Amino acid sequence: MSAPRIDLYSDTHTLPTPAMRQAMAEAEVGDEQQFEDPTVNKLCAMVAELLGQEDAVFLPSGTMCNQIAFRVHCQPGDEIILDYTAHPINAEAGGPSALAQAQTRALHTDLGIFTADQVRAALRPASGRHTPRSRVLSVENTTNAGGGSVWPIEDIIAVTAVAKEHGMAAHMDGARLMNAVVESGTSATEYGRHFDSIWLDLSKGLGCPVGGVLAGSADFIEQAWRFKQQMGGAMRQAGIIAAAGVYALEHNVDRLAEDHENARAFCRDIAQIPGIKLLFDRCQTNLVFFDVSETGMDAATVAERLRAHDVRMGAMGPHRIRAVTHLDVDAEQLAEAAMALREVVS
Ligand SMILES: Cc1ncc(COP(=O)(O)O)c(C=O)c1O
Repeated sequence: MSAPRIDLYSDTHTLPTPAMRQAMAEAEVGDEQQFEDPTVNKLCAMVAELLGQEDAVFLPSGTMCNQIAFRVHCQPGDEIILDYTAHPINAEAGGPSALAQAQTRALHTDLGIFTADQVRAALRPASGRHTPRSRVLSVENTTNAGGGSVWPIEDIIAVTAVAKEHGMAAHMDGARLMNAVVESGTSATEYGRHFDSIWLDLSKGLGCPVGGVLAGSADFIEQAWRFKQQMGGAMRQAGIIAAAGVYALEHNVDRLAEDHENARAFCRDIAQIPGIKLLFDRCQTNLVFFDVSETGMDAATVAERLRAHDVRMGAMGPHRIRAVTHLDVDAEQLAEAAMALREVVS
């Protein structure tokens, strides 16, 4: 089955451009396990610097970035505090309990952005044999199921200060960190300096076919490497794929603003369609969520009927649909997608 012409399912569906493929084809490579791949080394150095950290490690996926970070930070029985919509709770196949053997403590918010008071209220007592140990505070920026919302830096400072006061590690899931950076004007370095571990995904809005880069202190990265090896994430001539990351960081960051602009125009269009209710009352970055209950159809039916118009969006619950803008869809195609939605629901 081939992909639909207008694919708004996810920013993970971007295809490498000819220029990115050329950079990949021409990459200098070596054995990354021996630190002899110059392109992987370059990518890691770029990301460590970007995120204000000492070192970084290239990994096959964002999921592995989260899971390895949790393994480094946690002992079995520890607790990770995060929003109830966070990716590690909902979409990493139970990784925190299976791999770090840590349990998760979910905070309930509207946008995936919790407060320092919520963190304080969730903390376990510092002593005591009965309770788990609060060990990691994990922040997702932008929030995925929180509508692509951007964490304001003041909120980051407030919640990570609580984590530090209580001897916890602060971790950022930066699957879409560069979207947050472009939208907020807060630099990646400024976000990064409040965290003990932080990563960004290359295979989402940045347009690479694969990969995430996890950054932290030199000691953290040394421990992360051990788990990378153990989980089978250590690669060989990985410069071929790291080259896409280098290319993306040099060429595809500023243009994320276009994706955000396109998403807002798409929101304005679909907000006019009877029966469509925009969720989160706003669209801040590239993730658009809407509810179709009032159309009398469920999300799966709407998504299926959109396919007949060569448009793909994701059913994310019985009545909720997500549409994602990215570098493979332009403003015209988004206007077409909005028209298709109007036809499907009317
Ligand atoms: C917020 C968030 N974290 C982590 C991930 C996992 O990234 P990957 O698909 O690279 O494993 C995703 C992927 O959708 C995500 O949206």
